[in-house]
Amino acid sequence: MGQGCRGGVDSGTGARDDPVSDRFARRPVMSSCDSDFLDRLPKVELHVHIEGTLEPETIFALAARNGVALPWPDVATLRAAYEFRDLQSFLDLYYAGASVLLTADDFRDMAAAYLARAAADGVVRAEIFFDPQTHTARGVAMATVIEGLTRALDAARAGGMSCDLILCFLRHLSEEEAIATLRAALPFRDAFIGVGLDSSEVGHPPETFARVFAEARRHGLHLVAHAGEEGPPAYVWSALDVLAVERIDHGVRAIEDPALVARLARDRVPLTVCPFSNVRLRVCDTLADHPLKTMLEAGLAVTINSDDPAYFGGYVGANWRETCRALDLTREEAIAIARNGIEAAFVDEATRAELRARLDAAIAAG
Ligand code: ADE
Ligand code: ZN
Repeated sequence: MGQGCRGGVDSGTGARDDPVSDRFARRPVMSSCDSDFLDRLPKVELHVHIEGTLEPETIFALAARNGVALPWPDVATLRAAYEFRDLQSFLDLYYAGASVLLTADDFRDMAAAYLARAAADGVVRAEIFFDPQTHTARGVAMATVIEGLTRALDAARAGGMSCDLILCFLRHLSEEEAIATLRAALPFRDAFIGVGLDSSEVGHPPETFARVFAEARRHGLHLVAHAGEEGPPAYVWSALDVLAVERIDHGVRAIEDPALVARLARDRVPLTVCPFSNVRLRVCDTLADHPLKTMLEAGLAVTINSDDPAYFGGYVGANWRETCRALDLTREEAIAIARNGIEAAFVDEATRAELRARLDAAIAAG
């Protein structure tokens, strides 16, 4: 087990029962990498679920707009329920929250709110997951989901943000359902750049989805998959070797397998790490225990991302600030992580050159 992550020695301080904000607050003040510098860094966000950006206030506002009954009496009760034991306890709430999304305007408003917050955090490139099966299962048309999200992305692009969508298959459902989802989305092929695999990881290994990933690949789509979040290193191996993914989402448990670390380092496979998520879902005890620095030192192409920011205590800027502080990362390490994001992005080479130039300018400005 890696660095106090899952199975690490419990300090006996009761940290697992503390609110996550307390656990973050006790970290030492950052030495060589100040938060103003981090705030000014142009950032690439490669792992954010758009349904995970629904703030509790928005869930209630959309429920009222659409006449959807919620199982919580008010915002405060919902927010108080954000104490997760593991991935599944979070997913149960996350799917319940997403039930308020019905119209294209709902999807547009949700994505527009995320894109505005991301821009305020210095995000210059966002690759955004969406889970169509969560919506089509409730009778919402694929066209409604994609058209609403696309309207928000088009507006953000007009404002100078580079952004795209990645369609995720829910791994707790069957591969046949994933194939049907891909085919239902193909009439909107130009609206998304890739496919991913998310939801309940343990018991749903990547190789189960070999056929649908092969089909997506034949359509020229980029391939990513969640692996090594709660699941074992074997899931990372099969995401690479069976699904042929280009990036691993999370991947923190890869650190338990030296041969896998060597493989990921050799091939510079990007890992979209989500520090707040790992603490809130009890993958790691605290941010200070997070293996991100160890992974970086092992030569892994780690990036910093928010996953489900409305549920995990902060957007990508807060993930950067608190993680760099808790792990006492140097300015050079922060820059290396920012560069990893740029190299890992699914963009054309002209855009990548532009992103590199923006990062270089921010570094030069100090
Ligand atoms: N869907 C939304 N957030 C997720 C996560 N952290 N892991 C797997 N599936 C998810
Ligand atoms: Zn995720």
